[in-house]
Amino acid sequence: MANTTLDIQTIRKDFPILNREVNGKPLVYFDNAATSQTPQQVIDVIVAYYQNYNANIHRGVHTLSQEATDAYEQARKKIQNHFNAAKAHEILFTSGTTHSINLVANGFATILEKGDEILVSALEHHSNIVPWQMLCERTGAVLKVIPMSLDGELIMTEFYKLLSSKTKLVFCNHVSNALGTINPIKEIIDAAHNVGAAVLIDGAQAAPHRKADVQALNVDFYTVSAHKMCGPTGVGMLYGKEEWLKKLPPYQGGGEMIAEVTFEKTTYADLPHKFEAGTPNICGGIAFGAAIDYMNSIGFDAIAAYEHELLTYGTEKLLAIDGLKIYGPKQHKASVISFNIEGIHPYDIGSILDKLGIAVRTGHHCTQPIMDFYQIPGTVRASFSFYNTKEEIDVLVAGIERAKTMLL
Ligand code: ALA
Repeated sequence: MANTTLDIQTIRKDFPILNREVNGKPLVYFDNAATSQTPQQVIDVIVAYYQNYNANIHRGVHTLSQEATDAYEQARKKIQNHFNAAKAHEILFTSGTTHSINLVANGFATILEKGDEILVSALEHHSNIVPWQMLCERTGAVLKVIPMSLDGELIMTEFYKLLSSKTKLVFCNHVSNALGTINPIKEIIDAAHNVGAAVLIDGAQAAPHRKADVQALNVDFYTVSAHKMCGPTGVGMLYGKEEWLKKLPPYQGGGEMIAEVTFEKTTYADLPHKFEAGTPNICGGIAFGAAIDYMNSIGFDAIAAYEHELLTYGTEKLLAIDGLKIYGPKQHKASVISFNIEGIHPYDIGSILDKLGIAVRTGHHCTQPIMDFYQIPGTVRASFSFYNTKEEIDVLVAGIERAKTMLL
């Protein structure tokens, strides 16, 4: 891999939190797959909103309301451009990926019929499993699972066997949060379309690492959460093809999603407002746009190249630790390393690492079926971002060795 052009020490200065200590040690933040840290440029946008133009949107004739509305709608445009959606109204603001998936699942309750089949990948987060199980309970549709291999990859031959004219929907993540697997989503989308099924791709773990082009993918629904990509929590987006968004009923009723309300009958607003009832996370949406600007100013090619360097370095160093096993693919993965040490519970390693100032996630990562597949209670997951360094990986390795001496 070519050397990166990123100046990591300068980039790190953008993230005030990286200067803090945890338990008397410099913070090493390797829980980026759970949430990314926030650069000053985004924090400034949040502060400026509350200091200067905090107001409700789409409602007021007054200046503050118009300024807030303009900034919010500009953020929608930034998201549209970033994901290359054909139309701004195909971008819905949601509270995050979970909200987005539930919105689509709720809509399909009016479309699916008993005996219809929906396919979900074995690599999904609970948020891309449970809403579909609830949908099946409501409609009598049947949930089928695209199985995974020991290498943490989808078994595509089995996917093709599961596809049929009964298949109405297919769900898959772009990148697995637990293992880092990059799934062959274009192949999945094309094959699903061949049998007339719609596809929802959960892009929450892909968006921090790579750009997705929803038109090139020809995907029906694509969703991300802002907080995984340097933005705030509580906001995300759902891309939906216009034809689908027109077809699906609203998820929530309330203010702003209506055209006209009488006690006899209500008509709904046009897209995107039909799906945006109530006062949204206005500041969050604006900050989401700022986060996209920030990440693009770093550059996704440079981010991908540097994170690959970190992944390669980290994998080599961790594999040199006696008794350490990494789960998931060896190649073609995002900068996530999920591992266990023989004879030690992941929680115990995570607790000792925290005492050393190192933040990792431990447990099932909201992917219990993956843990059941490997017959393990969970893993330790170190997930790297473009502001991490190889020196921090050395600190992690030393921390794991220390944990081993304490626990074995
Ligand atoms: N889905 C997030 C994770 O993987 C919370 O940690």
